[in-house]
Amino acid sequence: MTPTPVFPQARTCPHLPPKGYAELRDGEPLRRVRLYSGQTAWLVTKYEQARTLLLDPRLSSDRRNPGFPVISVQVELLTERKRQALIGMDPPEHDAQRRMFLPDFTVKKARERRPDIERIVHGALDRMLAGGSPGDLFRDFALPVPFMVICRLLGAPWDDHEFFQDAIRRLVRTFDTAEGRQAGAELLSYFERLVVEHERRPGPGLIGRLAGTRRISRDDLALAAMSLLIAGHETTASMIALGAVTLLEHPDQLAEFRADPDAVAPAVEELLRYQSIADSANIRVATADIEIAGVLVKAGEGILIPASIANRDAGVFAAPDAFDIHRGAGNHIAFGYGRHQCLGQNLARLELQVALTALFDRVPTLRLAVPADQLVARPPGAIQGIDALPVSW
Ligand code: HEM
Repeated sequence: MTPTPVFPQARTCPHLPPKGYAELRDGEPLRRVRLYSGQTAWLVTKYEQARTLLLDPRLSSDRRNPGFPVISVQVELLTERKRQALIGMDPPEHDAQRRMFLPDFTVKKARERRPDIERIVHGALDRMLAGGSPGDLFRDFALPVPFMVICRLLGAPWDDHEFFQDAIRRLVRTFDTAEGRQAGAELLSYFERLVVEHERRPGPGLIGRLAGTRRISRDDLALAAMSLLIAGHETTASMIALGAVTLLEHPDQLAEFRADPDAVAPAVEELLRYQSIADSANIRVATADIEIAGVLVKAGEGILIPASIANRDAGVFAAPDAFDIHRGAGNHIAFGYGRHQCLGQNLARLELQVALTALFDRVPTLRLAVPADQLVARPPGAIQGIDALPVSW
């Protein structure tokens, strides 16, 4: 008997999916995998079943449900929480909360933020270039840009960013439940205090708009703000860094990206598909028996629907391992699909377009200071990416 494969697996090269995923995606549409917790769960390996299941109301996102697949320390900590943030809620609470946040995340709102995002991007580039070559593109550019953008969106003071960054790093990178629990508690009490301040003196941003209204409780707003701060920068920072690496590794397509403004948006979609960094997203538990692709998923069983596998389904994306900015990758599911599809996707797309365009415009001689396969990938379970990106120019 073949052993049950483990999920998620580690990337050996940070800008390529784990080697074991190729074998998983070429097999059956649903496979049993073993998790960090020792549980087994169903892994969905095909695009069609991924989209069908992400629309299925019999799947729950609520981490407190028995059987919810615990793929990491971070998910384990979420199963302990009495309250859940948006990504861990089911209807009707989920839909009501999502509607409440939506005005801050529309396409129109993202467009209105463009001048502010451009200012933030150019400011970060000025500081990185002033520091001289070589530099760390992750620390000095990819990380601070989305961090500043989400702080402004929320109305969280940038002056406190060293505190957030440290607490978030301790929460999302740890393998130790006690350390993660402590960091999570520190962050949450910071946001509770911030919500109280906004109740007394409403400031700008999402927290100021909702604090003290009857629409959401103080505790729920604090938890939502903390989750938005994390979701709003971890992912986008990874994509800016890995997007830069991928383009540098494909010089012909980088030349087109630089020369043709119309190539930028499709290139960003292909980067999102190609990188599919959120292995740790799209996790669910079945609340009823579900038959799919000849398999009976029983109520209480976990289901993992990673975009990193579905977005490389050769039946949908021809030659899926090739990076091709002309393929028309707009149907990827890197932002998820269905009810929980990424709330920040309009903002993330814009940030990626502005950041990568400005980076390659202003630093035409940018190159990696170490070979791409020597960059150090984050361990599995986290948003995939790198925490340092040595470059020179
Ligand atoms: C390139 C960057 C990003 C990627 C790849 C990404 C990926 C995802 C994925 C795959 C989901 C679906 C999770 C699920 O169904 O279980 C999701 C949900 C979510 N994302 Fe993003 N995300 C990104 C940027 C952002 C940004 C900038 C924000 C802004 C705050 C954000 C906020 C959220 C929220 C709040 C949800 C939960 C939505 C819901 O449950 O209704 N994300 N994201």
